[in-house]
Amino acid sequence: MKFTLQVEDTGSKARAGLIETDHGTIETPIFMPVGTAGTVKAVHQRELQDDIKAQIILGNTYHLYLRPGLDILQKAGGLHHFNGWNKPILTDSGGYQVYSLAGTGRKINEEGVVFKSHIDGGIHTFTPEGVMDIQRVIGADIIMAFDECTPYPCDFTYARKSMELTHRWLQRCCDRFDTTAPLYAHSQTLFPIVQGSVYKDLRKQSAEVIASQNREGNAIGGLSVGEPADIMYELTEVVCDILPKNKPRYLMGVGTPENILECISLGVDMFDCVMPTRNARNGMIFTTEGIINIKNEKWKEDLSPLDENLGGYVSTFHSKAYLRHLVKSGEMLGAQIASIHNLTFYIWLVKTAREKIKSGDFNQWKSEMKKKLMQRL
Ligand code: GUN
Repeated sequence: MKFTLQVEDTGSKARAGLIETDHGTIETPIFMPVGTAGTVKAVHQRELQDDIKAQIILGNTYHLYLRPGLDILQKAGGLHHFNGWNKPILTDSGGYQVYSLAGTGRKINEEGVVFKSHIDGGIHTFTPEGVMDIQRVIGADIIMAFDECTPYPCDFTYARKSMELTHRWLQRCCDRFDTTAPLYAHSQTLFPIVQGSVYKDLRKQSAEVIASQNREGNAIGGLSVGEPADIMYELTEVVCDILPKNKPRYLMGVGTPENILECISLGVDMFDCVMPTRNARNGMIFTTEGIINIKNEKWKEDLSPLDENLGGYVSTFHSKAYLRHLVKSGEMLGAQIASIHNLTFYIWLVKTAREKIKSGDFNQWKSEMKKKLMQRL
């Protein structure tokens, strides 16, 4: 993997860059649609590529390991061959899923995490080494270190112990990754993850440890877990200021369009979030003029396009009234159109941010855009 920093904004810490992988180049800042189980829910790979123009998608170690399982993934030649997505893929490590499984009897110890499958209740163990081996089999271009994502709120003592455990696990991840080879013809790279909950001192300490590993890119985890947005921005800035400039910075699980614009201005390059797809399935539609609840009576007879400004096929061709009808009727196509539209919007947002960074208009565009994004139409 190679990262090229192309332009640095003068009015903020925003940057435009390129990440080159064996499956193609990613223009940053970028939003990565979430494809947990090897599919971006309700969206076909051709739509992802041709309509949404996604450049990289996510997969999840926890889900793919449980189902379809490693045998079939290896037999297929990795996830790219299995799901037919021939562009870059990033897999999360399962650290976040383990956090999500709190309350289901999962146990974290020095060695790793013992958890119960949400599918059949079977008991499994994830260790840093095991998670590296699993991500070798899945074969994503970018793979994530195994970490513990702390909940919010989290007391200082727990946050410190958890961060230290994440750092020890990182060392084990790096050792395993560096002594194993990819299983397929393309190369893989490992991103470590900064933790430290809401404590600035811990975040600084963690960012320094992560930066000292000198990997090809770095991630920030443990944010957008319920803390106020201002705290998230403050910690993101503290961490971005420590992580090296010449490497991509990935803010995990973030966020709303507004969160993304703010964090781009703090120096983040990569984002992922279930929001555009999950909220689409509930009728929440993001547009360049503001947010729509498509189920509202208001849209019943509105035959205007979902959003002409995006330039995407689905967003231009289909009307608000048609999407409302589909969603209200529980038709599957409603979830499809809404998901394709929302992802088109998210990709448009980061693409436009990139253009504005390059033309020197990022700050002004950001403040105009934020005003629109806060509007409920
Ligand atoms: N996704 C969102 N936040 C996190 C995190 O802290 N760790 C991991 N592994 N994935 C995440």
